[in-house]
Amino acid sequence: MNTSLAAVAAAMTISASALAPGTVRAADGDPASTTATSRSQAAEDFRWGAASAAYQVEGAPSADGKGRSVWDHYLDDRSLAGPGVSGAVAINFYDRAQYLQDIALMKRLGINSYRFSISWPRILPDGQGPVNPAAIAHYRQFIADLKAADIQPMLTLYHWDMPLALAEAGGWENRDSIAWFKRYAEVVFANFSDQVDLYVLVNEPLVEFGMKHLAEQRMAGEPGVFAIVPDGPQLTRALTTFNHVMLASAAAKASFDAQGRQGRLGVALPLFPVLNAEGATPDDQASAALADGVMNRWFLDAIYNGRYPEDVVAAARDKGADTTSWAADARTIGEAGFDYLGINFYSALYIRRPAQAPSGYAVEMFTPEGVYTALNGPVRPDQFKALFDRIRTDYGNPTIFVTENGAGFPNEDTLIDGAVVDTRRCRYILDHVSAMQAAIRDGSDVQGYHVWSSHDNLEWLFGYGSRFGMIHVDFDTQVRTPKRSAEVYGRLIRGEAVTAADCE
Ligand code: BGC
Repeated sequence: MNTSLAAVAAAMTISASALAPGTVRAADGDPASTTATSRSQAAEDFRWGAASAAYQVEGAPSADGKGRSVWDHYLDDRSLAGPGVSGAVAINFYDRAQYLQDIALMKRLGINSYRFSISWPRILPDGQGPVNPAAIAHYRQFIADLKAADIQPMLTLYHWDMPLALAEAGGWENRDSIAWFKRYAEVVFANFSDQVDLYVLVNEPLVEFGMKHLAEQRMAGEPGVFAIVPDGPQLTRALTTFNHVMLASAAAKASFDAQGRQGRLGVALPLFPVLNAEGATPDDQASAALADGVMNRWFLDAIYNGRYPEDVVAAARDKGADTTSWAADARTIGEAGFDYLGINFYSALYIRRPAQAPSGYAVEMFTPEGVYTALNGPVRPDQFKALFDRIRTDYGNPTIFVTENGAGFPNEDTLIDGAVVDTRRCRYILDHVSAMQAAIRDGSDVQGYHVWSSHDNLEWLFGYGSRFGMIHVDFDTQVRTPKRSAEVYGRLIRGEAVTAADCE
């Protein structure tokens, strides 16, 4: 719990002069932070939101002519999340009667931005073939319903639900995926750009790869290890995948611009500050530096400098990767001119060199004893601030949207007497908002913040046991109950000063 207390203490220093509305006030009533919020234009326009993804919430796997996705295959055909764990219902969000209630609930909380994804296999059931008008109509209605509630859409085109036919053709490891995604993106732009002006092209290539690799291990009959940072044997495949995903995003952006469409496009990257534990050896430090290269610099250097980091390219070459096209590919990604950077932030990661690793790139994630962690790793709002600072100083201060930030904690979400008091999640959110506000005061151009997630949902291969929502979902009855975090986040958005004590 030590780190947690330090984090809350950090929140106590936040004053009302933060650019963004909503103030985290000191629990002890620090007079500097008790005044109402500043209301600059930036504050007025700030998007306070929540996020979700199609496969995790929608259910309805064959409604309106949907094609199969790789996730239908993983869970329903191969039971990779355990027997009977399926996305067939999830939180029933494809159902209009259901989602209208959810929109009303979010509006009541004060959320003004909703990041959601549309499903590629709904829009193009075979991945490449004919467009499915019923799916287009569904999402157009959904967006209209959101906007009628004064919630602005942030539309993600791809949050991991690859059409099965394309996954079977190699997915992102096949360079043709660049053309596949470009075509899909063009269909999306043609059908939604009168309604939507903020798009996330792809979500988290890094974590998608880790999840896919875990699925492969489980299909091979092993329990498998979920490695966010690819280990040595996976390095070449991972970088090849990332290269194609980013080239696909660049191609979609180029097409959007060439057609003169209006809107802002970016990608949502899971950025993980890398830490060495006390007593790290020079080898551990070298592994940590390379892990930073693979998880963070690989993407940021390409987007903002048009080149891939030399140390990572050399490590891949050392593993036998064919890097011939990479320099030109990175230039193409740099020339795309994405309009903003989407940051998904959960934790910092401790990295060391595994014992007895063969020479060359070798990394291992671990958690030193006594470190306060959430399901997605060590809780470090200070590292969230450091990340903003790094992007501002090293990458030219791009516009940022926080596209995901949130946490799950074991045994935190029990419904007792009609209420869920999720103190740790609630504090996590306040501490991270504080860190973001501090970065804004220091000059970072952050224009929105989305909690992952609005609702409890299907956590991929980890099933329904890992809850991340501010709204509790009873997965048997579909009954929703806003948790304490939702209530406090709503008060923050509405401009009230809130404190960690409100989370108790
Ligand atoms: C993903 C989400 C996931 C969340 C919580 C992110 O990596 O984008 O789909 O549910 O983390 O683990």
